[in-house]
Amino acid sequence: AQSLSNMADYIVDLDQENVGSLKQQIGKLFEESLRLTVPDELDVEPAIAPCQNPRFGDYQCNNAMGLWSKVKGKGTQFRGPQPIGQAIMKNLPSSEIIDSCSIAGPGFVNVVLSKQWIAKSIQRMLVHGIETWAPKLPIERAVVDFSSPNIAKEMHVGHLRSTIIGDTLARMLEYSNVNVLRRNHVGDWGTQFGMLIEYLFEKFPNVEVVNDQAIGDLEAFYKASKQRFDSDPAFKERAQKAVVSLQAGEERYRTAWARICEISRRGYERVYERLGVELEEKGESFYNPYIPGALELLSQQGLIEESEGARVIFIEGKNIPLIVVKRDGGYNYASTDLAALWYRLNEEKVEWIIYVTDVGQREHFEMVFTAAKRAGWLPAEDNKYPKASHVGFGLVLGEDGKRFRTRSTETVKLVDLLDEAKSRCKTVLIERGKAEQWTAEELDETAEAVGYGAVKYADLKNNRTTNYTFNFDQMLSDKGNTAVYLLYAHARICSIIRKSGKDIEELKKVGTLELAHPDERVLGFHLLQFAEIVEEACTNLLPNVLCEYLYNLSEDFTRFYTNCQVVGSLEETSRLLLCEATAVVMRKCFHLLGITPVYKI
Ligand code: ARG
Repeated sequence: AQSLSNMADYIVDLDQENVGSLKQQIGKLFEESLRLTVPDELDVEPAIAPCQNPRFGDYQCNNAMGLWSKVKGKGTQFRGPQPIGQAIMKNLPSSEIIDSCSIAGPGFVNVVLSKQWIAKSIQRMLVHGIETWAPKLPIERAVVDFSSPNIAKEMHVGHLRSTIIGDTLARMLEYSNVNVLRRNHVGDWGTQFGMLIEYLFEKFPNVEVVNDQAIGDLEAFYKASKQRFDSDPAFKERAQKAVVSLQAGEERYRTAWARICEISRRGYERVYERLGVELEEKGESFYNPYIPGALELLSQQGLIEESEGARVIFIEGKNIPLIVVKRDGGYNYASTDLAALWYRLNEEKVEWIIYVTDVGQREHFEMVFTAAKRAGWLPAEDNKYPKASHVGFGLVLGEDGKRFRTRSTETVKLVDLLDEAKSRCKTVLIERGKAEQWTAEELDETAEAVGYGAVKYADLKNNRTTNYTFNFDQMLSDKGNTAVYLLYAHARICSIIRKSGKDIEELKKVGTLELAHPDERVLGFHLLQFAEIVEEACTNLLPNVLCEYLYNLSEDFTRFYTNCQVVGSLEETSRLLLCEATAVVMRKCFHLLGITPVYKI
């Protein structure tokens, strides 16, 4: 391997600019080659994919076949896809990235990357930070609409999924330098407020002087008012009138509404704080003033029709229309979403709007998006921006295969889950004697990081559209694809570095990374794929892609560590740098998944 004698030159050579993902960098070379190979087909984009079988190389360019079918009728000099592949290979500009190329099958060009270049890229990241590996996305601003519980009703595991998945997507977009508006589209409007307010007035005639504790548990309050609503027709009538008064903006009703929302909000915020999730609330009520205008625009386009006393939008292929004004003249979930969509596109000027809810709402969003496309708010093509995407997720199931509930048949409360995860982790740590070695604070922080991390990871590692079974024993196991295993793996890498007694910050500057052993080469290559994995997870809105990567990475590390001695070896410096790079990438994965890393275990 070529070694760089003068480290000062080497560092200067490590330019700071973000050069894009590995795939993008290889793509650029092939773009150049395609321009030379088929000058008349300038719209062809390089098709680059990782090799299925690493024996053939690292990446493959798959353009030859497609090009052949494009040019064969046009009097081309080429006699088939193979010669096109040959030409693509020959026209590749020389670059330090590529070590060798070969042709396979009908013109696939296989590329083996240069080991020196991989090593150098990793070292550049170590010097300038993982931010330099951020993928480049074609947008500047996005909305992630997630969590979004409903006031007074409980925040259940479905909202937990939305919170965890939405937060990860927001984090990945933020890492990719997208300005993300993290929106909590709280259900803070609607007919349930009539009964809530009326019940509040009934229970506390002097509501102004009652403190919040007296109102207490809003969920219980909601249930009690619902019961009153269902059993007493006079109450029901008063509740319905209360909705009208609230909508008319009568002060007493407004004040009661604001108070109920505030109490509810404090409950959510506790959960968000524990989960480390940031959100900005713009609830349904925020969009009320924009509804008439948005509907007017749709109406001008001839999209809104009268049907059975309601105003609706008929959507091709759907049995039921999208109701936008109810028979009683009131607005609903759909009218709010149309107004919110309009607002986000025109006032907030975002290019991508991502909605994270259970799959049960797919139909609703399909209809809203179709209406927006027909109105010309969104382009008809799905691959163009601005774009709206529904990120649907499946159910959380209990051991019995049914919807996850506690014994009392109530849906599970979020906070209880987090409490249990933490206390189970703490018990394990104490069993391992950590109470004697660590401060109480360290014990608590680690139990929290591991416990909450386990809950999040168990959710994120599944393809989000499938249901998954909630199982504490499984998610808290230190074997297999769990957060516990991964967090421990990271902590172990940190301890290898600590135990070497070397100053890793110093090594980053003066040491040289080399990938001499095959297992080092595999690990290094995998590290370099980080950016394109994040890009893929972002563009396809699939956090499980990142989880899979993280798990594979830790397996690559284990193989390397089993077969290559680090501390005390001749290659110690280089291998410590590889350890550090692995730890940095793992930490970034944790960060993107909303998991707090631990450094010792
Ligand atoms: N509040 C809704 C629920 O609990 C989710 C809202 C999702 N966002 C939206 N813009 N519709 O199911």
